[in-house]
Amino acid sequence: MAGRCRLLRFLLPLVLWHGGLGKGILYPRDSESRVVKTLDGMWNFRADNSSTRNQSFVDEWWTKPLSQTGDVIPMPVPSSYNDITTDKSLRDFVGWVWYDRHFYVSKMWQDKRVMLRFGSVNYYAMVWINGQQVMSHEGGHLPFECEVNSVVSFSAVNRVTVAVNNTLTPITIPPGTIHFDSDTKRYPAGYFVQNLQMDFFNYAGIQRSVHLYATQQAYVDDITIITTIQGTNGVVSYSVTEGGTGQGSAFTVIVIIQDRDGNTVSSVSTRLQDTIVIPDARLWWPWTMKPDDPGYMYTLRVNVVSGDVYYQPFGIRTVRVSNTQFFINDQPFYLHGVGRHEDVEIRGRGSDDATIARDFYMKKWLGVNGFRTAVYPFAEELMDQADRQGFVVVDETPGVGITQPDNFSPVGLSHHKAVMGELYQRDKNRPSVIMWSIANEPTSNTAQGEAYFKDLIAHTRDLDESKRPITFFCNKDYDTDRVAQFVDVILINRYLGWYSDVGHTEVIQLQLSDDLENWHAKFNKPLVVSEYGADTLPGLHREPSFIFTEEYQTDFMKEYFRTFDKYRSQFLVGEMIWCFADFITAQQLNRVVGNHKGVLTRERQPKASAHLLRERYLSLVNSTRTN
Ligand SMILES: *[C@@H]1O[C@H](CO)[C@@H](O)[C@H](O)[C@H]1NC(C)=O
Ligand SMILES: *[C@@H]1O[C@H](CO)[C@@H](O)[C@H](O)[C@H]1NC(C)=O
Ligand SMILES: *[C@@H]1O[C@H](CO)[C@@H](O)[C@H](O)[C@H]1NC(C)=O
Ligand SMILES: *[C@@H]1O[C@H](CO)[C@@H](O)[C@H](O)[C@H]1NC(C)=O
Repeated sequence: MAGRCRLLRFLLPLVLWHGGLGKGILYPRDSESRVVKTLDGMWNFRADNSSTRNQSFVDEWWTKPLSQTGDVIPMPVPSSYNDITTDKSLRDFVGWVWYDRHFYVSKMWQDKRVMLRFGSVNYYAMVWINGQQVMSHEGGHLPFECEVNSVVSFSAVNRVTVAVNNTLTPITIPPGTIHFDSDTKRYPAGYFVQNLQMDFFNYAGIQRSVHLYATQQAYVDDITIITTIQGTNGVVSYSVTEGGTGQGSAFTVIVIIQDRDGNTVSSVSTRLQDTIVIPDARLWWPWTMKPDDPGYMYTLRVNVVSGDVYYQPFGIRTVRVSNTQFFINDQPFYLHGVGRHEDVEIRGRGSDDATIARDFYMKKWLGVNGFRTAVYPFAEELMDQADRQGFVVVDETPGVGITQPDNFSPVGLSHHKAVMGELYQRDKNRPSVIMWSIANEPTSNTAQGEAYFKDLIAHTRDLDESKRPITFFCNKDYDTDRVAQFVDVILINRYLGWYSDVGHTEVIQLQLSDDLENWHAKFNKPLVVSEYGADTLPGLHREPSFIFTEEYQTDFMKEYFRTFDKYRSQFLVGEMIWCFADFITAQQLNRVVGNHKGVLTRERQPKASAHLLRERYLSLVNSTRTN
């Protein structure tokens, strides 16, 4: 690993993809043998504002402290740099921005394996330590890490430098394009804009936590846990991957399972792969199915005899689908959820415990039992709360806006597979994740789309031994779509009475019923109405209702609710309103400071629609609980 890190200096800008390589990306957790230190805080920051957008590489900014290359400003990590300062050109900046900071590595870590891990950097990242490149990563929403022993000093101060590029291309996930305007009568020299194929702001920067952590030299590299249920027993099959053992050295483990209170509830296994039975297991349930005991989590404790200890949380639950139903632990499950962005209040994306906590309290208040990570993987700290509080998650790749012919290239597909691999690798042990979504609203009604997604879905099926259902968010029609045939549950995004027949709530029941019946008749698979919603400015009122008012949003929702209730006992297995809270988009004429389809404002306060949704969802809780 150290060798590979050093090699990267000469292969710039080589892309390091963990996905599919079988390389672990376990969350950095403390234990009696591991130490985790955060590098979050205020970093130095400078954008490469040169006309070529490339002067930083010519001048080799990584070779010295950033403050010696020019003026730096303070920038918080984690956060997106766009919404922090008052500089419009930085908010809208496209190209390379640079971060650096100093740090120390304790002498006590000298004999350890020292790792540097980024929770996510959007979109393309290059990382140097003390002027030596250690890694690069492509893709904005997933973690990456590298061993740094050979480049850090244990007896002096160290510097980490990160270059971040938010440029999207036809083969990035999500894709985008750069458009140059060379008409000098209308635009200044070098003028260009980045065109997005997605309807949310392209926040960028070091958006999630940065950790430095130490393990023993022989370490637990990866853990995969798959659970089944037999009668009242929980059956836990695990597999541990070793790291750091040279050829021939022994890697002996002692594995036990602990309950939530830390009591050992299993016999000891000394195998790298084994199946352990827990008698009278406590199952992982969504909070709405078991309000008294939601989200029960066990821990697999893996102790390498030579020293390393890792604690992997997991839950015991199963998921499966029939032609008409979705089952969790063999009980029918109805998803009454929300689509949402991980869009931190005011300040732009970047994980933040206060907002994570508030969002879960509001979801519980609303009676929401699950959500979708639209339209990119969310922070691991947020996903931990979904596990522990018993919310189900449709876990989604950043594959949004794959709509143009040049988005379907073999290079793009192989990158998309790698991203899916990284997502699987990160979230595979989470009981909250009940489905994988490979994409949002792609061109799924062409031969090109069919071939691309058939391949991607097959790849995803191969990855997940636990066989979670696979899906995507579809905005095409039942008679033209060519990808729904490959998925397990059909998710349709519909804006009847909004993007079509705007203002006419009276057509919604008729159109939606016809649509749902046709999808089910053609594919014989369970369905979810996975997006529906109307933009609403809080405080705007009209009676009778008028679009953009609070009255319209509630009138609109009631029509959908009536249709959902008609099909809920048939083959509709879920509804997810778009969306949980207002969020920011690019500047467009149809967006008044962002998308206002939230039932909550961006500050996480309710609109009238939130009260209506809550009434419905709480009555669904009462009718679907198992105890
Ligand atoms: C940027 O600068 C580096 C180093 O001078 C050079 O190798 C590279 O070709 C340049 N790239 C672009 C896009 O100008
Ligand atoms: C880039 O340069 C322009 C022109 O000097 C300046 O107005 C702008 O604030 C700079 N932006 C950033 C992000 O440095
Ligand atoms: C980074 O940004 C530059 C300037 O915007 C762009 O030309 C280049 O393609 C980007 N490089 C990568 C590796 O994303
Ligand atoms: C749900 O059930 C509880 C307890 O039986 C009851 O107090 C509450 O009113 C019910 N809520 C709804 C919305 O039906």
